Amino acid sequence: MENFTFYSPTKFVFGKGAENEAGKLVKAYGGSKVLLHFGGGSVIRSGLLDRVKASLDAENIPYIELGGVKPNPRSGLVYEGIDLCRKEGVDFILAVGGGSSIDSSKAIAAGVVYDGDFWDFYCGKPIDTALPVGTVLTIAAAGSEGSGDSVITKEEGMFKRGASGEGIRPKFSILNPELTQTLPAYQTACGITDIMAHLYERYLTNTKDVEVTDRLIEALLITMKNEGPKVIADPNNYEARANIMWAGTMAHTNSCGVGRSQDWNSHNIEHELSALYDCAHGAGLAVTMPAVFKYVMDHDEARFTQAAQRVWGKETAEEGINAFRDFLISIGMPSTLGELGGKEEDIPVLVKNLCYGDGRTGSISGFVTLDENDCTKIYQAMI
Ligand code: NZQ
Ligand code: ZN
Repeated sequence: MENFTFYSPTKFVFGKGAENEAGKLVKAYGGSKVLLHFGGGSVIRSGLLDRVKASLDAENIPYIELGGVKPNPRSGLVYEGIDLCRKEGVDFILAVGGGSSIDSSKAIAAGVVYDGDFWDFYCGKPIDTALPVGTVLTIAAAGSEGSGDSVITKEEGMFKRGASGEGIRPKFSILNPELTQTLPAYQTACGITDIMAHLYERYLTNTKDVEVTDRLIEALLITMKNEGPKVIADPNNYEARANIMWAGTMAHTNSCGVGRSQDWNSHNIEHELSALYDCAHGAGLAVTMPAVFKYVMDHDEARFTQAAQRVWGKETAEEGINAFRDFLISIGMPSTLGELGGKEEDIPVLVKNLCYGDGRTGSISGFVTLDENDCTKIYQAMI
């Protein structure tokens, strides 16, 4: 195991009715004027936003609102949010929604206290300071509620890039599994896929003798394999929703990724798909992962065999990957590029943006290093 420091100071408040604590939590973390930031309207339709506002009113905390965050959140609304917060003297940002609303909130929080262009953070500058951010999560998926990461798409050129730093780790996150019961089945399945991707990206390691984190990841993967189909069959299954929600958070706080090298090639390959086709991140991952795993399997077949046997109840590495792919299809996920709106003639653009975007010089690195030729073959395998 490699040396590591693990510090994950987010306060998680979990369970039925937890959103009614939002006002008290904002107050406890020093917020005196709040930006409520949310997406395309699901939190209005469900009545959640009204409950959060009532909890702020109960603490006499003033707030302003900025809705309209799109899935794969865009830089334009971030600039708008930064200007609004400065003009209104906002000192706390409360995201109400999914990973997109949370990531957009984090970008605004970092940008408000920074003199330069917030996009600098998405070109590699670490985020050390930001306005405090809290979250009320409505979908188990991205894990942004417990991560120090944010992913934003720059409209000019549609570049989707990530930023990281302790400054944007949420001060608190409210997790009420009931709030996820209004999700369409497709979005639920996208979330399940993303959670499993966060686990696999950590499982694919070159560090030896990491039994404790291997076993933690396997436990979470098995949980997703067992609980996922239950919520697809019955969206109101609270207990299954609860298990998935906490698994989603644990999958991405990095508690099961410490002390080991990690992969993230599948995420990087997918981010080009959601940037170009504006598909859901989870759906893109469902198409990407089996293709990547088969391509890199020979690098460490024993690792894939271990997952096949311990998670999927299969004998061989390839059978394990096929079982994972079939599971994703069974919950309603796509398995081909065409289903995402992709075309074979787009592959050169995807490969160029992937291998030369983000300061890269012709390859991406993780479990294995993949050059332009490798990435072309992987995208071709998704056709
Ligand atoms: O916009 P609204 O109307 O709220 O609708 C959303 C959206 O259409 C809807 N939704 C969310 N909760 C709902 C609901 N509909 C009904 N009932 C509910 N309870 O679901 C759609 C997807 O929402 P979104 O926030 O985009 O989902 P997700 O949490 O999957 O976030 C995806 C984004 O997170 C990034 C992805 O790249 C993508 O941009 N990621 C962020 C990470 C991080 N910050 O650590 C890591 C991840 O790997 C990921 O890259
Ligand atoms: Zn993800």
